[in-house]
Amino acid sequence: MRTPTFRRRGAPRSLAGPRPGAREGVGRRGFLKSLPVLGAGTALLGGCASQEGAVTGVDRVLSISLGQAESHPSYGSLVSFGERLAEATDGRYGARVYANNSLGDQQETVQLVSDGAIDMAVISGTQIENSSPRFLPMNVPGVFDDIDHQNRVMLDQSIVGELFASLEPQMRLTVLGGYSQGGRHLYTAQGPIESVEDMAGLKIRVQESEIFLRLISDIGGVPTPMAYSEVYTGLQAGVLDGAENNEISYVTQRHYEVAGHFTLTNHLIGFDFLLASTDLLEEMDEQDSEALREAWAETQSEFVEIWKQETEKATQDMLDRGVVITQPEPDVFAPIIEEAGLSILEHPDDLALYDAIRAASEEGDA
Ligand code: GCU
Repeated sequence: MRTPTFRRRGAPRSLAGPRPGAREGVGRRGFLKSLPVLGAGTALLGGCASQEGAVTGVDRVLSISLGQAESHPSYGSLVSFGERLAEATDGRYGARVYANNSLGDQQETVQLVSDGAIDMAVISGTQIENSSPRFLPMNVPGVFDDIDHQNRVMLDQSIVGELFASLEPQMRLTVLGGYSQGGRHLYTAQGPIESVEDMAGLKIRVQESEIFLRLISDIGGVPTPMAYSEVYTGLQAGVLDGAENNEISYVTQRHYEVAGHFTLTNHLIGFDFLLASTDLLEEMDEQDSEALREAWAETQSEFVEIWKQETEKATQDMLDRGVVITQPEPDVFAPIIEEAGLSILEHPDDLALYDAIRAASEEGDA
């Protein structure tokens, strides 16, 4: 084994990157051709002087796909994960974060991690649900009270352990945990939205997921599935009348420029899962794969507070930019949203997982 050159303190890194939504200089097709090289060793990326989103001077740089812009807190958090990993493995492993979906949209990157072409990807719960319906209860409105409850559940192996390992045999995907998406809300170009009548006929972008399709139609809108990276132009071109997301994504994707009415529906507390290639984890020395899991666990725990602070900042940013924030009366959308969520769970396993999650709520109201 070569002498590790990695030194945590003082290791150069740059957080600067392209504007939100921009692809990297290399075309995706050309880049993907080189990905087997990434999977196989370190010659391409390891030991470089400085690379955006990457820990440098390590033997093996793991590729991590992220749909968010560099200004989103998950980007900085993944960069620190790479640093922790490098330190914990004594420079044998580090990571490079590919932001802005530059390796592909989420559904595509699930497949790329499954194939081992990239090492890890951050994937929205609804996209995992498309690979395995067993994750559906995690995406149901009302299942989590707040992000503390969600975090407790995601760290509780008795609730999530089996589920997180369930993609390993067939898809060779290991769920390591993930990041809260916080509460998701509605936003529209025209507004304010205060009633179901105000929603009539509005084309609202949703993630490709059954629960979102049902939710938006039940509150009066026309759900329009579309990839995250296309929402800005969809709103700008008038193909969409609105979308839904958390405050941080709304701000970091600059959706306020094209949809200035934000309605606090808090219809869902979402979660972004971190997927890793099971083959990668099995190929690593046990000590290194354990170090990777620990580095990730620290990163995940720290993120909850970061998320809360960044949400406050994003809200202030929205107000400063003149976004009109509306709080609808509690009996307008909330009962419909709750009903839409519960009506989707039918399978006994889904109901059991839902109940286990609810039992971990502070109220323990399973
Ligand atoms: C959030 C979430 C992403 C997801 C996006 C979306 O930003 O963190 O993972 O892709 O919502 O609405 O598609």
